[in-house]
Amino acid sequence: MKIAIGCDHGGIVLKPAVTAYLDSKKIEYVDLGTYTTDSVDYPVYAKKVAEAVASGECDKGILLCGTGIGMSIAANKVKGIRAAVLSDEFSAAACSAHNNANVLCLGGRILSPEKATKLVDLWLTTPFEGGRHVRRLDEIADLEK
Ligand code: RB5
Repeated sequence: MKIAIGCDHGGIVLKPAVTAYLDSKKIEYVDLGTYTTDSVDYPVYAKKVAEAVASGECDKGILLCGTGIGMSIAANKVKGIRAAVLSDEFSAAACSAHNNANVLCLGGRILSPEKATKLVDLWLTTPFEGGRHVRRLDEIADLEK
């Protein structure tokens, strides 16, 4: 498992906790920036991460901005990406179990580092349920044609 991480200045506050979690689980990741708190444009980093996942270079992606919303809107423009923005535990598990979300978007102005880590853990450890959800994801993929 290899994860692509991207953030802007609004989400970078969560990055140390997320990478510490991945390190603790021995999960490989690549940090595609940004690397400072200087103001940047989140679509640049959403594109980097989404394309890394869509190309198969990485298995999943994590995007961090102020709310997670802008990152999710941008990442979902890339074919094959199912990016979920969330802030609660139920959705963190459901976005894997039902939506097979391959990108998780979190808000640095909403979540504590501890909560963000918990959500990443639920997302990564909850299996996709398959079954009826495959048909629904196929219907979503049809929208990309
Ligand atoms: C940056 O100020 C902020 O707009 C961005 O981090 C994000 O919250 C966008 O959705």
